Amino acid sequence: MRHFLTLKDFTKEEILEIVNLGIEIKKDLRAGIYKEELKHQTLAMIFEKSSTRTRVSFETGMFQLGGHALFLSNRDIHLGRGEPIKDTARVISSMCDMVMIRTFEHSMIEEFASYSKVPVINGLTDSYHPVQLLADYMTMLEYGISENATVAYVGDGNNMTHSWMMLAAKIGFELRIATPKGYEVDGDILAEALKIAKGSGAKISVMNDPKEAVQGATIVTTDTWASMGQEDEKYTRIKDFQGFMVDDLMMCLAAKNAKFLHCLPAYREQEVSESVLEGHADIVFDEAQNRLHAQKGLMVWLNRHR
Ligand code: CP
Ligand code: NVA
Repeated sequence: MRHFLTLKDFTKEEILEIVNLGIEIKKDLRAGIYKEELKHQTLAMIFEKSSTRTRVSFETGMFQLGGHALFLSNRDIHLGRGEPIKDTARVISSMCDMVMIRTFEHSMIEEFASYSKVPVINGLTDSYHPVQLLADYMTMLEYGISENATVAYVGDGNNMTHSWMMLAAKIGFELRIATPKGYEVDGDILAEALKIAKGSGAKISVMNDPKEAVQGATIVTTDTWASMGQEDEKYTRIKDFQGFMVDDLMMCLAAKNAKFLHCLPAYREQEVSESVLEGHADIVFDEAQNRLHAQKGLMVWLNRHR
Protein backbone atom coordinates (compact mmCIF):
# COMPACT_ATOMS: atom_id res chain seq x y z
CA MET A 1 0.00 0.00 0.00
CA ARG A 2 1.25 3.49 -0.85
CA HIS A 3 0.52 6.91 0.65
CA PHE A 4 0.83 10.13 -1.35
CA LEU A 5 2.44 12.56 1.11
CA THR A 6 5.14 14.18 -1.07
CA LEU A 7 6.47 13.67 -4.61
CA LYS A 8 9.76 12.67 -2.97
CA ASP A 9 8.44 9.13 -2.42
CA PHE A 10 7.53 8.60 -6.09
CA THR A 11 9.74 7.85 -9.08
CA LYS A 12 9.55 9.85 -12.30
CA GLU A 13 7.90 6.82 -13.95
CA GLU A 14 5.25 6.62 -11.21
CA ILE A 15 4.49 10.35 -11.46
CA LEU A 16 4.07 9.95 -15.21
CA GLU A 17 1.85 6.88 -14.73
CA ILE A 18 -0.44 8.83 -12.37
CA VAL A 19 -0.63 11.91 -14.59
CA ASN A 20 -1.18 9.85 -17.76
CA LEU A 21 -3.92 7.91 -16.01
CA GLY A 22 -5.52 11.28 -15.20
CA ILE A 23 -5.24 12.33 -18.87
CA GLU A 24 -6.90 9.06 -19.94
CA ILE A 25 -9.71 9.48 -17.38
CA LYS A 26 -10.20 13.07 -18.58
CA LYS A 27 -10.67 11.81 -22.17
CA ASP A 28 -13.19 9.23 -20.94
CA LEU A 29 -15.12 11.92 -19.07
CA ARG A 30 -15.27 14.07 -22.21
CA ALA A 31 -16.68 11.02 -24.06
CA GLY A 32 -19.24 10.39 -21.32
CA ILE A 33 -17.50 7.18 -20.15
CA TYR A 34 -17.52 6.51 -16.39
CA LYS A 35 -15.54 3.39 -15.46
CA GLU A 36 -16.46 3.53 -11.76
CA GLU A 37 -13.24 1.87 -10.65
CA LEU A 38 -13.85 3.01 -7.04
CA LYS A 39 -17.45 1.83 -6.83
CA HIS A 40 -18.70 1.50 -3.23
CA GLN A 41 -15.50 3.08 -1.88
CA THR A 42 -15.42 6.03 0.53
CA LEU A 43 -12.87 8.83 0.68
CA ALA A 44 -12.68 10.64 4.04
CA MET A 45 -11.58 14.27 3.55
CA ILE A 46 -10.22 15.96 6.69
CA PHE A 47 -9.94 19.73 6.30
CA GLU A 48 -8.21 21.78 9.00
CA LYS A 49 -7.85 24.69 6.52
CA SER A 50 -10.17 26.25 3.91
CA SER A 51 -10.43 25.04 0.35
CA THR A 52 -12.35 25.57 -2.86
CA ARG A 53 -10.48 23.51 -5.49
CA THR A 54 -9.29 20.65 -3.30
CA ARG A 55 -12.66 19.93 -1.82
CA VAL A 56 -14.63 20.27 -5.05
CA SER A 57 -12.15 18.23 -7.10
CA PHE A 58 -11.81 15.33 -4.63
CA GLU A 59 -15.52 15.14 -3.88
CA THR A 60 -16.56 15.36 -7.54
CA GLY A 61 -13.77 13.00 -8.60
CA MET A 62 -14.74 10.34 -6.08
CA PHE A 63 -18.39 10.54 -7.17
CA GLN A 64 -17.43 10.21 -10.85
CA LEU A 65 -15.36 7.12 -10.01
CA GLY A 66 -18.43 5.49 -8.45
CA GLY A 67 -17.48 6.20 -4.84
CA HIS A 68 -18.48 8.59 -2.09
CA ALA A 69 -16.61 11.37 -0.27
CA LEU A 70 -17.08 12.51 3.34
CA PHE A 71 -16.25 16.13 4.20
CA LEU A 72 -14.89 16.31 7.76
CA SER A 73 -13.85 19.71 9.05
CA ASN A 74 -12.10 19.86 12.41
CA ARG A 75 -15.17 21.59 13.78
CA ASP A 76 -17.16 18.43 13.08
CA ILE A 77 -14.84 15.67 14.24
CA HIS A 78 -13.21 15.03 17.60
CA LEU A 79 -9.73 15.58 16.16
CA GLY A 80 -10.47 19.30 16.56
CA ARG A 81 -11.26 18.72 20.27
CA GLY A 82 -8.08 16.83 21.00
CA GLU A 83 -8.80 13.20 20.09
CA PRO A 84 -5.34 11.80 19.28
CA ILE A 85 -4.30 11.59 15.62
CA LYS A 86 -3.42 7.90 16.02
CA ASP A 87 -6.91 7.06 17.32
CA THR A 88 -8.62 9.11 14.60
CA ALA A 89 -6.46 7.39 11.96
CA ARG A 90 -7.29 3.90 13.20
CA VAL A 91 -11.02 4.61 13.39
CA ILE A 92 -11.42 6.38 10.04
CA SER A 93 -9.19 3.93 8.16
CA SER A 94 -11.17 1.00 9.54
CA MET A 95 -14.29 2.27 7.77
CA CYS A 96 -13.10 4.27 4.75
CA ASP A 97 -11.03 3.19 1.75
CA MET A 98 -8.85 6.29 1.37
CA VAL A 99 -8.18 9.46 3.37
CA MET A 100 -7.27 12.96 2.14
CA ILE A 101 -5.97 15.46 4.69
CA ARG A 102 -5.38 19.21 4.53
CA THR A 103 -3.60 20.42 7.63
CA PHE A 104 -0.82 22.58 9.10
CA GLU A 105 2.20 20.55 10.30
CA HIS A 106 3.46 17.99 7.81
CA SER A 107 4.25 15.68 10.74
CA MET A 108 0.49 15.38 11.46
CA ILE A 109 -0.12 13.71 8.11
CA GLU A 110 2.93 11.47 8.56
CA GLU A 111 1.67 10.33 11.94
CA PHE A 112 -1.82 9.76 10.56
CA ALA A 113 -0.40 7.72 7.65
CA SER A 114 1.71 5.59 9.99
CA TYR A 115 -1.48 4.44 11.79
CA SER A 116 -3.73 4.26 8.72
CA LYS A 117 -4.73 0.96 7.14
CA VAL A 118 -5.64 2.74 3.89
CA PRO A 119 -3.81 5.16 1.53
CA VAL A 120 -3.46 8.73 2.82
CA ILE A 121 -3.26 11.67 0.39
CA ASN A 122 -1.71 15.04 1.26
CA GLY A 123 -4.23 17.73 0.28
CA LEU A 124 -1.77 20.46 1.48
CA THR A 125 0.39 20.93 4.53
CA ASP A 126 2.57 23.88 5.57
CA SER A 127 5.46 22.10 3.80
CA TYR A 128 4.04 20.58 0.60
CA HIS A 129 1.14 20.64 -1.86
CA PRO A 130 1.87 17.63 -4.08
CA VAL A 131 -1.61 17.08 -5.60
CA GLN A 132 -1.44 20.61 -7.02
CA LEU A 133 1.81 19.70 -8.78
CA LEU A 134 0.20 16.64 -10.39
CA ALA A 135 -2.32 19.03 -11.98
CA ASP A 136 0.43 21.51 -12.89
CA TYR A 137 2.49 18.80 -14.53
CA MET A 138 -0.55 17.51 -16.41
CA THR A 139 -1.12 21.06 -17.68
CA MET A 140 2.53 21.34 -18.76
CA LEU A 141 2.22 18.07 -20.72
CA GLU A 142 -1.05 19.14 -22.34
CA TYR A 143 0.40 22.47 -23.44
CA GLY A 144 3.54 20.76 -24.75
CA ILE A 145 5.85 22.64 -22.42
CA SER A 146 7.27 19.87 -20.27
CA GLU A 147 10.35 19.02 -22.35
CA ASN A 148 13.25 21.32 -21.55
CA ALA A 149 11.01 23.62 -19.51
CA THR A 150 12.61 26.42 -17.56
CA VAL A 151 10.28 27.29 -14.73
CA ALA A 152 10.66 30.53 -12.79
CA TYR A 153 8.94 30.65 -9.38
CA VAL A 154 8.69 34.20 -8.04
CA GLY A 155 7.46 34.81 -4.49
CA ASP A 156 7.29 33.17 -1.10
CA GLY A 157 9.38 30.07 -0.35
CA ASN A 158 6.39 27.97 0.75
CA ASN A 159 4.58 24.64 0.33
CA MET A 160 4.07 25.28 -3.40
CA THR A 161 7.74 26.15 -3.92
CA HIS A 162 8.82 22.99 -2.09
CA SER A 163 6.56 20.88 -4.26
CA TRP A 164 7.82 22.56 -7.45
CA MET A 165 11.35 21.69 -6.26
CA MET A 166 10.41 18.03 -5.86
CA LEU A 167 8.68 17.90 -9.26
CA ALA A 168 11.66 19.51 -11.01
CA ALA A 169 14.08 17.20 -9.20
CA LYS A 170 12.13 14.08 -10.18
CA ILE A 171 11.28 15.03 -13.77
CA GLY A 172 14.56 16.78 -14.54
CA PHE A 173 13.71 20.30 -15.66
CA GLU A 174 15.21 23.66 -14.70
CA LEU A 175 13.65 25.57 -11.80
CA ARG A 176 14.76 29.03 -10.71
CA ILE A 177 13.32 30.33 -7.46
CA ALA A 178 13.36 34.01 -6.52
CA THR A 179 12.20 34.96 -3.03
CA PRO A 180 12.70 38.13 -1.00
CA LYS A 181 15.42 37.92 1.65
CA GLY A 182 14.02 36.22 4.75
CA TYR A 183 11.39 34.27 2.77
CA GLU A 184 13.67 31.60 1.28
CA VAL A 185 12.72 27.95 0.88
CA ASP A 186 13.39 25.44 3.66
CA GLY A 187 17.09 24.54 3.66
CA ASP A 188 16.59 20.83 4.41
CA ILE A 189 14.01 20.41 1.64
CA LEU A 190 16.30 22.25 -0.78
CA ALA A 191 19.19 19.95 0.11
CA GLU A 192 16.99 16.90 -0.48
CA ALA A 193 15.74 18.25 -3.81
CA LEU A 194 19.30 19.01 -4.96
CA LYS A 195 20.33 15.48 -4.05
CA ILE A 196 17.47 14.00 -6.11
CA ALA A 197 18.22 16.45 -8.94
CA LYS A 198 21.68 14.93 -9.36
CA GLY A 199 20.07 11.74 -10.64
CA SER A 200 17.63 13.40 -13.04
CA GLY A 201 19.75 16.22 -14.44
CA ALA A 202 17.41 18.88 -13.00
CA LYS A 203 18.84 22.34 -12.39
CA ILE A 204 17.46 24.02 -9.28
CA SER A 205 18.71 27.46 -8.25
CA VAL A 206 17.64 29.96 -5.59
CA MET A 207 18.11 33.72 -5.70
CA ASN A 208 16.63 37.00 -4.45
CA ASP A 209 16.27 38.75 -7.80
CA PRO A 210 12.98 37.98 -9.62
CA LYS A 211 14.27 39.47 -12.90
CA GLU A 212 17.19 37.06 -12.92
CA ALA A 213 14.82 34.12 -12.33
CA VAL A 214 12.36 34.94 -15.12
CA GLN A 215 15.01 35.74 -17.77
CA GLY A 216 14.13 33.48 -20.76
CA ALA A 217 11.86 31.22 -18.66
CA THR A 218 9.22 29.20 -20.52
CA ILE A 219 6.92 29.09 -17.48
CA VAL A 220 6.51 31.74 -14.81
CA THR A 221 4.62 30.86 -11.66
CA THR A 222 3.89 32.33 -8.26
CA ASP A 223 1.64 31.85 -5.22
CA THR A 224 0.07 33.95 -2.51
CA TRP A 225 2.49 35.95 -0.34
CA ALA A 226 0.61 34.97 2.84
CA SER A 227 -0.42 31.32 3.02
CA MET A 228 -3.21 29.92 5.15
CA GLY A 229 -2.15 30.32 8.78
CA GLN A 230 -0.08 33.46 8.01
CA GLU A 231 -3.00 35.90 7.85
CA ASP A 232 -1.49 38.04 10.65
CA GLU A 233 1.63 38.66 8.56
CA LYS A 234 -0.29 39.82 5.50
CA TYR A 235 0.56 43.54 5.69
CA THR A 236 4.22 43.03 6.62
CA ARG A 237 4.54 40.62 3.73
CA ILE A 238 2.99 43.07 1.24
CA LYS A 239 5.78 45.49 2.20
CA ASP A 240 8.52 42.86 2.13
CA PHE A 241 7.46 41.49 -1.27
CA GLN A 242 7.61 44.80 -3.15
CA GLY A 243 9.13 44.15 -6.59
CA PHE A 244 7.96 40.54 -6.63
CA MET A 245 4.63 40.98 -8.43
CA VAL A 246 4.47 39.04 -11.70
CA ASP A 247 3.30 41.81 -14.04
CA ASP A 248 3.56 42.46 -17.77
CA LEU A 249 7.05 43.96 -17.43
CA MET A 250 8.28 40.86 -15.67
CA MET A 251 6.62 38.57 -18.24
CA CYS A 252 8.47 40.53 -20.97
CA LEU A 253 11.75 39.19 -19.60
CA ALA A 254 10.56 35.58 -19.96
CA ALA A 255 10.69 33.62 -23.23
CA LYS A 256 8.41 34.67 -26.07
CA ASN A 257 5.02 32.99 -25.53
CA ALA A 258 5.98 32.02 -21.97
CA LYS A 259 3.10 30.57 -19.98
CA PHE A 260 1.95 31.68 -16.55
CA LEU A 261 0.69 29.21 -13.94
CA HIS A 262 -0.95 29.86 -10.56
CA CYS A 263 -2.41 27.27 -8.18
CA LEU A 264 -5.07 29.78 -7.06
CA PRO A 265 -6.54 31.47 -5.09
CA ALA A 266 -4.79 34.50 -6.61
CA TYR A 267 -4.46 37.91 -4.99
CA ARG A 268 -4.51 40.41 -7.83
CA GLU A 269 -2.06 43.32 -7.71
CA GLN A 270 -0.09 41.46 -5.04
CA GLU A 271 1.75 38.36 -6.34
CA VAL A 272 0.26 38.77 -9.84
CA SER A 273 -1.20 41.68 -11.78
CA GLU A 274 -4.78 41.56 -13.01
CA SER A 275 -3.49 41.82 -16.55
CA VAL A 276 -1.11 38.81 -16.34
CA LEU A 277 -3.71 36.65 -14.64
CA GLU A 278 -6.48 37.52 -17.08
CA GLY A 279 -4.07 37.35 -20.04
CA HIS A 280 -3.26 33.73 -19.08
CA ALA A 281 -6.71 32.78 -17.83
CA ASP A 282 -7.07 29.88 -20.31
CA ILE A 283 -4.12 27.95 -18.94
CA VAL A 284 -4.66 28.97 -15.30
CA PHE A 285 -8.23 27.71 -15.26
CA ASP A 286 -7.28 24.55 -17.21
CA GLU A 287 -4.69 24.04 -14.48
CA ALA A 288 -7.40 24.41 -11.84
CA GLN A 289 -9.73 21.98 -13.63
CA ASN A 290 -6.89 19.49 -14.01
CA ARG A 291 -7.00 19.05 -10.22
CA LEU A 292 -10.11 16.94 -10.83
CA HIS A 293 -8.56 14.75 -13.52
CA ALA A 294 -5.10 14.37 -11.98
CA GLN A 295 -6.53 13.40 -8.58
CA LYS A 296 -8.86 10.85 -10.17
CA GLY A 297 -5.72 9.37 -11.73
CA LEU A 298 -4.05 9.41 -8.32
CA MET A 299 -6.94 7.71 -6.49
CA VAL A 300 -7.23 4.99 -9.16
CA TRP A 301 -3.44 4.47 -9.08
CA LEU A 302 -3.36 4.19 -5.26
CA ASN A 303 -6.27 1.75 -5.35
CA ARG A 304 -4.47 -0.44 -7.91
CA HIS A 305 -1.32 -0.48 -5.75
CA ARG A 306 -2.72 -1.78 -2.50
N1 CP B 1 -5.01 25.38 -5.19
C1 CP B 1 -5.72 24.92 -4.15
O1 CP B 1 -5.34 23.96 -3.48
O2 CP B 1 -6.88 25.58 -3.94
P1 CP B 1 -7.86 25.44 -2.67
O3 CP B 1 -7.14 26.02 -1.50
O4 CP B 1 -9.06 26.22 -3.07
O5 CP B 1 -8.16 23.99 -2.47
N1 NVA C 1 0.56 28.50 -0.27
C1 NVA C 1 -0.88 28.52 -0.27
C2 NVA C 1 -1.44 27.55 -1.26
C3 NVA C 1 -2.93 27.57 -1.40
C4 NVA C 1 -3.46 26.56 -2.34
C5 NVA C 1 -1.38 28.21 1.13
O1 NVA C 1 -0.82 27.31 1.77
O2 NVA C 1 -2.30 28.88 1.59
